[in-house]
Amino acid sequence: MKRHLVVGAHGQVGRHLVRALAARGEPVVRAGRREPADLLLDLDRPETLPQALAGLRADILWLCAAYTHVDGCEADPDRSRRINLDSPAVLARWAAASGCRVVFFSTDYVFDGRAGPYTEADPPHPLSVYGRHKQAAEEVLAATLGPRALVVRTAWVYSRDPGGTNFFEQVRAALTAGRPLAVAADQFGNPTYAPDLVDAVLALVDRRAAGLFHVAGATVMTRAAFAEAIRAALGGPPDLIRPVATRDLGQRAPRPLRAGLVTTKLQAVVGFVPRPPEPVLAELARTASPESPASS
Ligand SMILES: NC(=O)c1ccc[n+]([C@@H]2O[C@H](COP(=O)([O-])OP(=O)(O)OC[C@H]3O[C@@H](n4cnc5c(N)ncnc54)[C@H](OP(=O)(O)O)[C@@H]3O)[C@@H](O)[C@H]2O)c1
Repeated sequence: MKRHLVVGAHGQVGRHLVRALAARGEPVVRAGRREPADLLLDLDRPETLPQALAGLRADILWLCAAYTHVDGCEADPDRSRRINLDSPAVLARWAAASGCRVVFFSTDYVFDGRAGPYTEADPPHPLSVYGRHKQAAEEVLAATLGPRALVVRTAWVYSRDPGGTNFFEQVRAALTAGRPLAVAADQFGNPTYAPDLVDAVLALVDRRAAGLFHVAGATVMTRAAFAEAIRAALGGPPDLIRPVATRDLGQRAPRPLRAGLVTTKLQAVVGFVPRPPEPVLAELARTASPESPASS
């Protein structure tokens, strides 16, 4: 039985991963920067990681933790570098020395969004600090671990997470409050349901897949279309979703516009890809309508 170390166990992907591994009955060490955790790790202090990991044994290190606030990374590139690049590099060296495989989560923000959706063979060209550091970390992981690294690029991850900030919850909160929400009509990506992402990556790991894989929802659409699909599923007045141009959102970091990920390589290896939003949203709507926020 494999022993798993999940770094970022409290995050959206980390939580679903820990749940899926626990359901398989596989031993998991939950690592994060706050309790409850089996191991406290602060990726903002890469120099402390070797000591924090001393004596630990794992077969697979899942690197889900990241500084995911894209505009925050643009405002504080040093912090982004420590969390998104320097710490992954330290963890990769630890894994290489201890014979452990690593699954690293990356992003379609490694692309510039001029000609998406992108395959694994397309050259990255990130526009933002976040994208640059994630891409540099991909390279460090591959160089340090070779065939023991699996780099998973994903996009627009969402899930039911009351009080959380993923896009599904942002739209749900706006609908619940009757508050208009401006959303980009010119940003394209794949909405990816977190539990589906975890299922697909576990299928890759079960097949001992290595290298680079795009793991994202089956449909590429605009943010505005995704927001409208959420509204249509949950209910709420259509005029609350306000499609706008990205340049009118005043975001600090540039966003790739025609982004999105092609998932044919994943399909070929595991035989499925994460579902498109409609069936997932229909499922979520049964427990998460804007009129019943307390039902979560
Ligand atoms: N969410 C998306 O749409 C998306 C899209 C493409 C790629 N990805 C990638 O997928 C991965 C998982 O994303 P997610 O949606 O699960 O993100 P998330 O919900 O923001 O979770 C990030 C996790 O990283 C942890 N973290 C942040 N700073 C840390 C630090 N200094 N030390 C230790 N832990 C720290 C957070 O801890 P706290 O819980 O304490 O805050 C949180 O648990 C990331 O690598 C991200 O780059 C995500």
